[in-house]
Amino acid sequence: MPETSAPPEPILKKDMGRALISAERIAKRVEDMGREISEVYADIDTPLVLVVILKGATVFAADLLRSLSIPAELEFVSAASYGSGISPGKLRLAHMVEGPLVGRHVLLIEDIIDSGRTVSAIEKRLRKLKPASLRLAALLDRPARREVETRIDFTGFVIPDRFVIGYGLDYAGLYRELPGIYTLT
Ligand code: IMP
Ligand code: MG
Repeated sequence: MPETSAPPEPILKKDMGRALISAERIAKRVEDMGREISEVYADIDTPLVLVVILKGATVFAADLLRSLSIPAELEFVSAASYGSGISPGKLRLAHMVEGPLVGRHVLLIEDIIDSGRTVSAIEKRLRKLKPASLRLAALLDRPARREVETRIDFTGFVIPDRFVIGYGLDYAGLYRELPGIYTLT
């Protein structure tokens, strides 16, 4: 895909058309994921640590957190594999978790798994902190462009090879506020 440097023309919400995944479908699926995750971690004796990948996964994480029936803490990591446009850039880890993870059960929360490079790099860093377990929950899985083998423990939706925005996912920093998920290409 071509490198885009000029900021995109904002698309008005009323012109977005039909969502690829509606807000209603997302809400149902996130509720189910919360239930499933709560069952998997039902017997752990410390609160689950949700490690949220900034910024895209924050909307998903906020809903997922509230669908859990087990105690959970929040931590954040920051990585960017995309520059300001659609083309992949270099991966940066700009923020690491603040609390110790040794002996803790960690659930990494990501918005979308594309090449798999972002979560692979973050998982490598998190494993060094010696968590008791490390699993991955991703709202979206786009397997068409996978470059690094990635095990996703909890998947929301598998999507076709289209760039998507909304529900936290951005294009050049925009559209995170859209309640559903829309295709841009
Ligand atoms: P990966 O490292 O190639 O798996 O890329 C995952 C990261 O790229 C995600 O954290 C997203 O921020 C971003 N990304 C990948 N695909 C999309 C998309 O379709 N829309 C918005 N962001 C995306
Ligand atoms: Mg991201």
